[in-house]
Amino acid sequence: MTARPSVLLVCLGNICRSPLAEAALRAEAARAGIDLEIDSAGTGGWHAGNAPDRRAQAVALRHGIDISGYRARQVMAADFTRFTHIVALDEDNLADLRRLAPAGTTATIGLLLDHVPGREGQGVRDPYYGDADGFDATWADVSAGARGLVRAIAAGA
Ligand code: 4NP
Repeated sequence: MTARPSVLLVCLGNICRSPLAEAALRAEAARAGIDLEIDSAGTGGWHAGNAPDRRAQAVALRHGIDISGYRARQVMAADFTRFTHIVALDEDNLADLRRLAPAGTTATIGLLLDHVPGREGQGVRDPYYGDADGFDATWADVSAGARGLVRAIAAGA
């Protein structure tokens, strides 16, 4: 028996990109009718307990998803065995995850945009220090990544 697939999406602060990726993945999994456990976290803990950035909340709401109840948390050692897939939003997050992965890690660790043809190896740019338009680009990227990731998991990845 294979484990129920479960995905942890990881960025730096868990207030901008990974909560949006979580929202997009929840929507794509529901659309595809696949049973997926989904959470998000940050490699850093500065924003732990905080709601997503207001600009992230606004772009999600424009796409019909309320993420105001999400709360940031930091990646922890147990995540590496609890989740079947740990998906980094950018290359720095990926490198940090590989460094943090304890002995006995069972999760597959990868990059979200590896699931988007032509975007392999790329990161979702951090919109935190930019303007609100950056969050539209983030939404487009995480939505494309979520679609590809659902396809990959449905295909048995
Ligand atoms: P995120 O964006 O990693 O997409 O949540 C950031 C949020 C906060 C910070 C950096 C990036 N920060 O330095 O506080």
